Amino acid sequence: MKLTITQPDDWHLHVRDGEFMSAVLPFTAARFARAVIMPNLQPPVTSVAAALSYRERVIAAADAAGFTPLMTLYLTPSTSVETIEQAAACPHIIGVKWYPAGATTHSDQGVSDISDCLHVVEAMSELSLPLLIHGEVTDPEVDIFDRESRFVTSTLEPLLQRVPELRVVLEHITTADSAQFVQDAGPNVAATITPQHLQLNRTAMFQGGLRPHHYCLPVLKREYHRRRLVEVATSGDPKFFLGTDSAPHLRKDKESACGCAGVFSAHAGIELYAEVFDNAGALDRLEGFASLHGAAFYGLDRNSGTLTLERRAWQVPDVYRVGADELVPFRAGTKIAWRVHTSEGEH
Ligand code: NCD
Ligand code: ZN
Repeated sequence: MKLTITQPDDWHLHVRDGEFMSAVLPFTAARFARAVIMPNLQPPVTSVAAALSYRERVIAAADAAGFTPLMTLYLTPSTSVETIEQAAACPHIIGVKWYPAGATTHSDQGVSDISDCLHVVEAMSELSLPLLIHGEVTDPEVDIFDRESRFVTSTLEPLLQRVPELRVVLEHITTADSAQFVQDAGPNVAATITPQHLQLNRTAMFQGGLRPHHYCLPVLKREYHRRRLVEVATSGDPKFFLGTDSAPHLRKDKESACGCAGVFSAHAGIELYAEVFDNAGALDRLEGFASLHGAAFYGLDRNSGTLTLERRAWQVPDVYRVGADELVPFRAGTKIAWRVHTSEGEH
């Protein structure tokens, strides 16, 4: 069985830099026409000049003609309105990413309290520049499984009351509560959903032992939430779209006494969603989720090319090489039911 869709886009992607980027980015460029490139490098991408120079490095590493990186800026307490104006005027920058300080990998320079940046957020609203949000509270007193739900009620709702026209993408949602919030919000609010949050629940982190490669942030949730995410992703609702949050970390940094958060999924960035939609009996809605809804939200043209997927299983390698190091991909050593169809029939 084959399925041809408008070429998809990945609306949330970490590609790192240097040698690491060269190892991971070709997987994305072979599948997606565009990807929103997260700015959480070290140091973070905080200026338009830094984003444009990162963009050049991304294009060089993509090794595929026609791949378009959509750049983001990292919101810090010192982000100025002038920077926002420059970003809004720059056709290569698509939004500003807010990592609450301490919420996740490389978030220490983020903003703790968004009320301290209201003038910047208001400027974004006026200029129609989207705020992409890692939606978790960082209060260590709040249970890690509750941090996203708490964020929605304690931070996002009040923010949207103060800046109601702000365009927001609640990234990598993991709960039924977030799905409901986004459904009920205005057309200026949307969400991305990752393959791991559609495929796994939190028990997968502890299956037969501790599974560091299933650890990401926001952390996997209960089966009830996973099911709800599958429902909204496959519902055809244009507020939900594809964002892999593929977040590569070297094997040694994952398999550690204090392992890094992040699941690498770019090697199967569209195939994993095809499995989910197929299992839900909703293959006819994959194109909307993967190729149409995101572009519509961001006000971009649809891609003109197509991608053909084929229901023919392939085995994910145990590891990919990154220089002298290894990277363990999502679903390592298991079979994925869908592949990208190429004329040679090779994966
Ligand atoms: C991301 C990373 O490693 O950059 N990790 C993750 O678990 N998703 C950061 C992020 O998006 O939270
Ligand atoms: Zn991310």
